[in-house]
Amino acid sequence: MEIRRSILSVPGHIVKMHDKAAHSEADVIMFDLEDSVPVGSKKVARENIVDSIRRLDWSGKLLSLRINAVDTSFAYGDVIYCVEHCGSMLRSLVLPKVNHEGDIHFLARLLNGIESNLSPGHPISIEACIETAQGLERISRIAEASSRLKSLVFGIADFTASIGAPLTTLSAHGEDDTSNHSGHRWHYILNRIVTAAKSHGLYAIDAPYGNFQDEEGLIDSARMSRLLGFDGKWVIHPGQISIVNEAYSPSEHEIELAKQILEAHKEAEINGRGAASKEGHMIDNATVRLAEKVWEFAIQLGNIAS
Ligand code: GLV
Ligand code: MG
Repeated sequence: MEIRRSILSVPGHIVKMHDKAAHSEADVIMFDLEDSVPVGSKKVARENIVDSIRRLDWSGKLLSLRINAVDTSFAYGDVIYCVEHCGSMLRSLVLPKVNHEGDIHFLARLLNGIESNLSPGHPISIEACIETAQGLERISRIAEASSRLKSLVFGIADFTASIGAPLTTLSAHGEDDTSNHSGHRWHYILNRIVTAAKSHGLYAIDAPYGNFQDEEGLIDSARMSRLLGFDGKWVIHPGQISIVNEAYSPSEHEIELAKQILEAHKEAEINGRGAASKEGHMIDNATVRLAEKVWEFAIQLGNIAS
C-alpha cells in the first residue's frame, strides 16, 4: 500500500516552492499545471517542473502532476512534454474536471503511446478529480475506466461552482461547511466518492482546506473525511502537512484499541469461541479485520514494531 496522507500542491511556475516541497514531509508532491498557474505561464511551468523533478532530491516522496483538463488546448502538450522528459519519475497524472470515462480513456491511450516508446520502469497512474455534477453522476464508470486509475479526488471549489451552490467563505475550500447546514454540506458527495473509490480498489483523496491559518478547521475537516474512509488530503501550504499526516495516521488510541481487540480475539480462539467480549463490547471477525488494518498501517508507518 502506498502512503498518501498529505498531497502538497505546488504551482508549476514557482520554482522556489519546488525547493521547499523537496524538503517537506509531504507523502506526495503534486506539481500543478492547472488552476494555480496563469494561462501565460503554462509553458514555463512545464519547463520548470521538468527541471525541478530532474534536479532535486525527491527520495521518500511520490511525485504527481496535475495537468490541465482534457477540453483545454494545454492537456495533450502537458502530458507529452512532461512524461517524455520525466518518465517514471512521475508516479501519477492528476486529471482535473473528469466529466466522463472517455476523459480517462483519452489520457490512458496517450500514456500507452508515450510509454511504448520510453519503456519507463512502471506505468504512470491516473488520479481522477471528481469536481463537477457530471463527473459525480458517472463516478462508477469513471472509477472502472482504466487499470491505470489510482485514486478519486474531491475537488470542492469546482464542485460548488458546478452545482451553483453559494459561496460562503473567501476560499470555498471546505471552511465553514458545517455551520451553514444542519449536517455537513458535502456529506453525500464525500460518501459517494469513498464508495466508488473503495469498490474499485482506489484511494479516496479529500480536497484541500483553503484557510491555511485555521489549524482547528483543518483538523476538523481532515478528521471528518478520514472517519468517512478517505486516505489523505491535498494541502496547499507546508504548514498544513504535519496536521494532515497525523490526521490520516492511526492515533495512539486506535492502536491501543487494535491491540486489545487482537489480544481478545486470540484468547477467544484459544478457548474455542468465535466472538470475544471486552468490557461489555462484542468483538467479532469484522472488528478483527478492522483492527488488523489499523495494526498493519501503523507498522507500515513505523509507529509500532512488526
Ligand atoms: C480543486 O481543484 C477544487 O476545485 O477544489
Ligand atoms: Mg478544481
